[in-house]
Amino acid sequence: MSTMNHDRKNPFLEGNLAPVTEEMTVADLEVIGTLPPELDGRYLRNGPNPIGDVNPAKYHWFSGHGMVHGIRIRNGKAEWYRNRWVRDREVASLLNESPPASDWPSDHQQFAANTNVIGHAGKTFAIVEAGSPPVELSYDLETVRISNLEGTLPHAYSAHPKRDPLTGELHVMTYFWGWGNQVQYLVVGTDGRVRRHVDIPTAGGPMIHDIAFTKKYVLVFDLPTVFNLEAAMAGSRLPYYWDHNYQARIGLLPREGTAEDVKWIDIDPCYIFHPMNAYDDGDEVVLDAARHEKMFDRERRGPSEGPPTLDRWRLNVVTGTHTCERIDDRPQEFPRINEGLVGLRNQFGYCAGIGQNFAQDTLLKVDLDNRVVETRKDTKRYGYGEPVFIPRDGSKAEDDGYVMALRLDGETQTSELAIFDAQAITEDAIAVVRVPARIPNGFHGNWIPD
Ligand SMILES: [Fe+2]
Repeated sequence: MSTMNHDRKNPFLEGNLAPVTEEMTVADLEVIGTLPPELDGRYLRNGPNPIGDVNPAKYHWFSGHGMVHGIRIRNGKAEWYRNRWVRDREVASLLNESPPASDWPSDHQQFAANTNVIGHAGKTFAIVEAGSPPVELSYDLETVRISNLEGTLPHAYSAHPKRDPLTGELHVMTYFWGWGNQVQYLVVGTDGRVRRHVDIPTAGGPMIHDIAFTKKYVLVFDLPTVFNLEAAMAGSRLPYYWDHNYQARIGLLPREGTAEDVKWIDIDPCYIFHPMNAYDDGDEVVLDAARHEKMFDRERRGPSEGPPTLDRWRLNVVTGTHTCERIDDRPQEFPRINEGLVGLRNQFGYCAGIGQNFAQDTLLKVDLDNRVVETRKDTKRYGYGEPVFIPRDGSKAEDDGYVMALRLDGETQTSELAIFDAQAITEDAIAVVRVPARIPNGFHGNWIPD
């Protein structure tokens, strides 16, 4: 990196987006404060971490090789930190290893599973959108296989399955350029097998990053960041650009309905990576999400088209009309909630404040009912990643629990897992696990209890 020509710098390879070069295993991490004894499991987080020489003129943040970072907590101790690249054919080749086992034919599309890491049906998966399969990891984050979910996955998966707290099933919206103008919705059972899929025609080939659902509907985000054939022919690794002429709309698919049952509601142009939550309210579907004015228009190496805000849409299922209002205009992303309320009415959300080019910033707690937003004030020293909410054992109140987030300590250039009382997120952390390494700013993580 030091020899890089200044005018060829790529903002998504700089600062705490610069990749790390080593895999580490460190036991018995230093803990400041007291880890809640009920925490027994792993905090895992995925993100792009390109190996070797990268062409800064061509690099797209979303295309970097995936690296999963993990911290194992048990009995009030932080037992280990590990970071591992997620193996696919290219990563294995760059690391001089043999390719990982795969459930797919040898010519099946594979690219970096770099966006999220989840636990489901007793397994751990590194996952990504746009057509590449899930990668099963061992408990210790070694790559096990490129998975087809025991032969049940038709083709593409997603970086954002969401679990229905009432059934334990995963709901997944997938897309793949090779399908043309359609996307595919999947339901993955508690046994880890796809039990249902629905092909949904769209006007173009939209990049659909995430999903939201209510008790009645699954939401389909058919928004104007769409597949661009010319860019694909020119070799773009992520040929999805803003189309000024594409009608933004949200589809409401009845939970057990077919593609013909989708009700489409036109909305004003915007892009949504991440909904906070959605739920039914009479004839309306309420959707809260981080709203971007547009995506991949002027800047096509990563998300940087102006600060995202937290907005609320009310979609009227009967009239097909909608309203949209701003909840909070502080730049924020990676919204999370108490996941016992996914698809149900929630009061609280937790977000990462973000700076230019998704730089790490503060941590926010949003009270949607009272429209009060609390933010941490220690951002001179710390930059926070995506927060995760963990309910306290036996909790009754929605925000009775912990908020866990990785943060970079700007003074030491090392990272920490900070754990806050969710009812006091502006106070000092209950516990801080110190990681003797820098964890680059990445995408998504989860607490995966044992
Ligand atoms: Fe995401």
